[in-house]
Amino acid sequence: MSQFTDKLYPMFPSIVQPLVENVLTSGNYRRKKISNFLLNQVEIKIGRTRLLSYPYILILDPSNICNLQCPLCPSWQDTTSRPKGKMDIHLFRKIMAEAGPYIITVNLCNWGEPFLNPDLSEMIAVAKRYSIVTGLSTNLNYLPDDAAEQVMDAGIDIIVISLDGITQETYSKYRQGGELQKVLANIEKLNYFKRRSGNKTTLAWQFLVNKYNEKELEGAEALAVKMGMHFLPSAMRSSMGKELILPLYERVQEMKDWFPENRTYRKYPSDIRPETKTSQQTCKWLWNSMVINWDGSVAPCCGIFEEKWDFTNLSQKAATFHQAWNSPHYRLARKLVSAYLKKSDKLPKLIHNAEAEGLICRNCIKYGFLED
Ligand SMILES: C[S@@+](CC[C@H](N)C(=O)[O-])C[C@H]1O[C@@H](n2cnc3c(N)ncnc32)[C@H](O)[C@@H]1O
Ligand code: SF4
Ligand code: SF4
Repeated sequence: MSQFTDKLYPMFPSIVQPLVENVLTSGNYRRKKISNFLLNQVEIKIGRTRLLSYPYILILDPSNICNLQCPLCPSWQDTTSRPKGKMDIHLFRKIMAEAGPYIITVNLCNWGEPFLNPDLSEMIAVAKRYSIVTGLSTNLNYLPDDAAEQVMDAGIDIIVISLDGITQETYSKYRQGGELQKVLANIEKLNYFKRRSGNKTTLAWQFLVNKYNEKELEGAEALAVKMGMHFLPSAMRSSMGKELILPLYERVQEMKDWFPENRTYRKYPSDIRPETKTSQQTCKWLWNSMVINWDGSVAPCCGIFEEKWDFTNLSQKAATFHQAWNSPHYRLARKLVSAYLKKSDKLPKLIHNAEAEGLICRNCIKYGFLED
């Protein structure tokens, strides 16, 4: 089961229980979700470019505004590439009305702080009506009492809390502008409303390991257990937002000062060379996931920050979700990746077309695919 769920959604811990409860044993639209998932697997296998199935994973950004300044995140550094804003609940409802019956998980965050959208709990409640497993990642520096109460009452399944240290000094090395004591108090607040609502929400402590905080790993794990949380120590990625723009070698040069001594928590090999490609051999994003920004624009995968690489936009009145999913950019990108994987002689022509269309996926052919 865990191999299956890892493939389904690698980022969420403990997805098995909500998956079983929401999709496999009870819940609305069970048959639609399962048959769509199976059809999707077949379409991935045969490399179809115009899909009959819907994606079964959504990454949907309630807000791309953030209250912190993490050094390797573009959210606060680049305020020109994409306007800042919060998703309108009407747009969220429109997306759910068409795609909700097929979606298995929704991750309610991408390039900002999800709790800054006052409609977050409403989004969770709507998604739960479609029996979707709901999760998000948050820096948890901002959590009004009513928001904590409402997300728990709405039945959120998984909350990942980004907390990289147990002293203010180490924590704020990466989470610049963040206050450790505020986050710890907000975890208690979530625990209180979780107990009160009686739901089984997983609270996970994500600890990005770097050279400043690696000595605090054990202490953080002990505190996580004490606070009833899963502990998720993770390797840091290179500058997010540049992952599809720059070759791996250049990205690693930019961030290697963060590397911890403990090599288990280094995402990239130390013998990396200028021509080294990423370790990811293929791309499933184009077939099983849709990434939707706050304004309804659609990016091909979660590594896309700049607006110029978007594929299409769901807020256009005429466009249905399924039409957007098979828009010209999606189809060309699927053709390109399929041709690359099959070593087809059509590849040079498709690379040329992708370049002419300004399709970001051409970079993955050069540098390797976005890593999990
Ligand atoms: C861009 S954030 C948005 C959600 C929220 N603001 C947060 O930080 O949790 C999405 C995820 O990226 C993670 N993240 C940030 N910088 C990272 C890095 N350099 N390497 C790996 N993950 C990172 C965050 O911890 C979070 O889990
Ligand atoms: S990683 Fe999250 S908390 Fe940090 S700046 Fe980016 S969006 Fe904000
Ligand atoms: S940019 Fe790369 S990882 Fe992203 S969707 Fe395109 S091929 Fe996949």
